[in-house]
Amino acid sequence: MKVDFHSHILPGIDDGSRSLEESLKILDAMAEDGVSIVVASPHFYCTKTSIHRFLDKRNQAYEQLRAAMKPEHPRIVLGAEVLYNHALVGKDALVRLAMSGPASAKTSYMLLEMQYDKITDQIIEDVDKMANDLDVKIIIAHVERYLNFTSFKSVSELMQLNVLGQINAESLTHMRSRADCFKLIKNGYVHLLGTDTHRIDRGDAKLGEGIEILEKKFGKEFISYIEHNSRAVLKDRPIEELLG
Ligand SMILES: [Fe+2]
Repeated sequence: MKVDFHSHILPGIDDGSRSLEESLKILDAMAEDGVSIVVASPHFYCTKTSIHRFLDKRNQAYEQLRAAMKPEHPRIVLGAEVLYNHALVGKDALVRLAMSGPASAKTSYMLLEMQYDKITDQIIEDVDKMANDLDVKIIIAHVERYLNFTSFKSVSELMQLNVLGQINAESLTHMRSRADCFKLIKNGYVHLLGTDTHRIDRGDAKLGEGIEILEKKFGKEFISYIEHNSRAVLKDRPIEELLG
């Protein structure tokens, strides 16, 4: 079962798909790639909007898309890509941004994007609090990207918290970022995959391309591990089960 845990496919809500037509084209391409479930994860910036307003807008965009979807399209799980901010620590309503239906159970797994900057001790402390004090479970979005801004040691500290890691298929198709992804995988920091698809013509790699590269390097077992994790998240299994 191919699950894409990171995408910007909802029409007109962020810097992803601009229109219903574009969203449908993206879903056509995903269906062709054999993706069965895709998490729609529009950007959420707590400095720009409230959770309530964001969810209203997101649900409207989803309803518009749902009405036009074809049976062969991947099923959609609604989520958000939440940009880390110190103000998020201790926010009870955060769980409302977690991944939830219609193609999954109501989960408490939330995609958290880090700022494109050094990962400081303060940030590690905040994410630790979010992962342990609240009702949400944290998935760190495109873990490999932060290696462009901070040391492997800092990323390791982040990933050794009670969190899961997602990498982008696209990063597996470029030599340098592929090496970074492989290093993260060898350290056990990668649990889920995504495409982070924004636009139909941006050239984002397909999930299948990423899977093929991973299978060549780490074998079928690793792909089964990713699939197992994907199912567990969609069923809202305890994070400890996935972290082993
Ligand atoms: Fe994204």
